[in-house]
Amino acid sequence: MRSAVYPGSFDPPTNGHMDLIARASRLYDKVVVALGRNSIKNPLFSVEDRRRMLEEECARFGNVSVEVFDGLLVDFCRAQRIEVILRGMRAISDFEKEFQMALTNRTLEPGVETVFLPTSADLMFVSSSIVREIARLGGDVSRLVPDSVARKLAARLSAGVDI
Ligand code: PNS
Repeated sequence: MRSAVYPGSFDPPTNGHMDLIARASRLYDKVVVALGRNSIKNPLFSVEDRRRMLEEECARFGNVSVEVFDGLLVDFCRAQRIEVILRGMRAISDFEKEFQMALTNRTLEPGVETVFLPTSADLMFVSSSIVREIARLGGDVSRLVPDSVARKLAARLSAGVDI
């Protein structure tokens, strides 16, 4: 069985993430979306909120599950017995960070390979931080994130939370 882990912070999940998950679900028998508990400081959404958003959006795929992980990604891969880490590659600006992460992970665990999927061209500019900035400044994020995420962002704004 071909399995892959798709790790990230997902604060919040974007259409870019969902596009990659949809394509991965066709390439692999099983995809585990792995939400890093401590991968970013001061997240906008709690881990539980992000897990719920991902679960809601991934429910339509029969072979995608969502897990929260602590610690090293390669330890999570070992525990899941999965040998492929999937990452999206948007532009050349992603390359340096992604290459460093891939080589670090391979040094820590040579049995785990990183596979890069190029992003879809129309989503190249989408990132969670861009989404947070547009939402904070009152812009329309409806074409950048799933509807359920857009609603959660709107709820945050209307509750007066500083995002
Ligand atoms: O969506 P992001 O923020 O680019 O995802 C980053 C993530 C979660 C993949 C990365 O921070 C991570 O793997 N964190 C776990 C800690 C770890 O294994 N570090 C060593 C490899 S860089």
